[in-house]
This record gives sequence, C-alpha cells and structure tokens, in this order.
Amino acid sequence: MKKIKVGIAGLGRLGKVHAENLAFKIPNAELTAACSIMPAELDYAKEVLGVEDVYSDYREMLAKADIDAVAIVTTSGEHCWQIEAALDAGKHVFSDKPLGVNVEECRIAEKAVERHPELAFFLGFMRRFDPSYAYAKKKIEEGAIGTPYMVKATGIDPEALVDGAIRFAATSGGIFIDMAIHDIDLMRWFLGSDPVEVYATGSTFKHPEFREAGDDETGVAMYKCENGAVGFVHVGRTAPHGYHVETEIIGTEGSIRVSPVPAKNLCMIYNNQGVVQECVSGFPERFAESYRLEMEDFINCVQNGVKPEVTVYDGTKSTQIGFATTEAYRQGGIVKIEY
Ligand SMILES: NC(=O)c1ccc[n+]([C@@H]2O[C@H](COP(=O)([O-])OP(=O)(O)OC[C@H]3O[C@@H](n4cnc5c(N)ncnc54)[C@H](O)[C@@H]3O)[C@@H](O)[C@H]2O)c1
Repeated sequence: MKKIKVGIAGLGRLGKVHAENLAFKIPNAELTAACSIMPAELDYAKEVLGVEDVYSDYREMLAKADIDAVAIVTTSGEHCWQIEAALDAGKHVFSDKPLGVNVEECRIAEKAVERHPELAFFLGFMRRFDPSYAYAKKKIEEGAIGTPYMVKATGIDPEALVDGAIRFAATSGGIFIDMAIHDIDLMRWFLGSDPVEVYATGSTFKHPEFREAGDDETGVAMYKCENGAVGFVHVGRTAPHGYHVETEIIGTEGSIRVSPVPAKNLCMIYNNQGVVQECVSGFPERFAESYRLEMEDFINCVQNGVKPEVTVYDGTKSTQIGFATTEAYRQGGIVKIEY
C-alpha cells in the first residue's frame, strides 16, 4: 500500500516528538516536508529528520510540497486557520490540541471539516491512546465498574519546570485553559456525558509570581454533567516528585485508578534513601507511546478512509468547557455551560 506523505508544521517541544514518530517509527507514513518559522528548526529537519523540502511559510508548503496530509503542531493560536487552509488545499489534517483558543476560531475549523467530508480530520487528544486509559475505557464498556458516576483527575507539572510556567503565566490563558483540557476530555469520554455547570477556584502557596500574573499555581474545578455524573479536576505546577497525572473513575460497582503512582518503570530502588520508585519526568516521557499510537491511528484513518473517533466538535466542546471553567474561577461562582 502507498505510504502517506506528511508535511509537519511546528518543530518545537512536541513537534519534534511527532516528527520523529512520522520519520522513523510509523512504517506506512513518510515525512516529506516540514515548516517552521524558526530557521534552527528547519536545520534540525534537514540534519536529524533527513527532510530536505522545508518551508518558513505554511501556505507555501501547502501549495508546493508533495504531501497527502499535514500534522499541525504549531502554537495553539495558529491551529484553526492552518486546519482550514490545509483542508481547502485537499490535505488530510492531524492537529494537536487545543482545536482553537476561542470558540469563534473553533467554528471556522468546524465549517472547514464539514466542507470536506472526503478528508480525515484528527484532533490530538492523545491520552485516549495511552494503553492504560484505553484499557480503562474498555473495562468500563465491559461493565467492570457498573455505571461510571464520577471522574477525579489530577495533572500536576513537575516543580523542575516551574520557571517556564511562571514566564508563560501572563499569556497562558490561565491554568485551566493551559492545563486542564486533557482532563476535561477524559472526563467527557469516561462519563459519556457533557458538563452543564462548573465551579472553580485556586490557590498559591509557593510561587507568588502566579498571583501577580492574575493566575494561581493550583486550580480545582467541579463539574456537574447532563446525566447527573460529577467530575473533579485538579491541575497544578509544583509536583516535587516529577510529572503527576492520575485519574480515578468511580462507578456503581467499583472504580478504576490510572497511575496513582506515576512510576517511571517497574524498578524499585532499595538503598540508603529507603525503597524508592522513580516518577516520570514530564509529558514526553509519560505519553511517548500515546503520541506514537495516535499518529499511527491518523495514518491508518487516512489510508483506509476511516473517520477518526475524536471529532472537531469534541475540540470545540473542550475549548468551551475550558473557558467556562476560567470564567467560574474568575467569578468565584457556578457557571452554566451552554453548547
Ligand atoms: N498533546 C499534548 O500533550 C501536548 C503537549 C505539549 C504541547 N501541545 C500542543 O502542541 C502545540 C505546540 O506546543 P509546543 O510545546 O511544541 O510549542 P513550541 O513553542 O515548543 O513550538 C511551537 C512551534 O510552532 C512553530 N510555529 C509557530 N507559528 C508558526 C507558523 N505560523 N508556521 C509554522 N510554524 C509555526 C514554531 O516555530 C515552533 O516550531 C501547542 O498547541 C500545544 O498546546 C500538546
């Protein structure tokens, strides 16, 4: 079968992960073009990825490159116009999350996807491809915990990365927009229902810089869903032990916990520190397999003409929920979520 030729846009922290998967780890994909506004990243594309066809202008890549599909891993505010331009140019699209940074942009992407039913549109909610989360979903569908009625999700970045988070705090859109979108998507996925109201608050005990930027270092949000189920999302910037992503799904007949100890591997180290299990260091390590599996699924969807499971409307909803959560946090009250 013919390989799917892909052009990647964005070769930053996550773009490099996707690019290396496409170039070296997915047999039915071929990375044939790359685009970045940073010249050093185009050198990386040539030297490390072996991609000679490089562009500093995205529209030029769409017009000239020999590609069937694009992978968009640029800054979030660029996603929607790049999705629309690629679909209108006849290319299948993988876009990393978030779909857009506001609902108006998301609607533009929705319309472009609706104009092109012949093309695949894939949104990178990669946690759904994490083998443990996928297994939890399968067990729920098999009835292992009865009817799920609560999700408790925690996502705390390592304290080791806090300086970057502080620098970014004023322009991040706030801790919920910046950090909670994956937990929001998992909550909807596991509960099979959309939140209709949210209460949110936050706290800062360690780094006052977050408060000075109008944000907090810890955020918590409580959701009530259309079917009566509830969700609790806790995000933060200061995990001392590494990258802490943990999810609990509670049902009428039991519960499932994913990663209560976010362990690096199966090793326990017995020494003068005690008995130590090391923690994953960050998202590239924790979700390495998910990034590969989601891109593999995208390529398979394109090759076999199958529609991806996550839709553009899931993208809009998660952005809407993120904004409603931020509004609840700023108002200090309950906000109704309307779609
Ligand atoms: N799914 C996840 O777990 C996950 C994790 C991290 C980041 N992300 C998302 O991935 C995206 C990229 O994040 P990052 O951390 O790699 O950011 P980054 O700042 O490290 O990289 C951004 C890249 O976009 C490029 N770029 C920006 N505007 C461009 C344009 N107009 N044309 C071409 N290239 C352009 C920059 O040159 C750079 O290569 C963001 O939307 C972020 O939300 C998702």
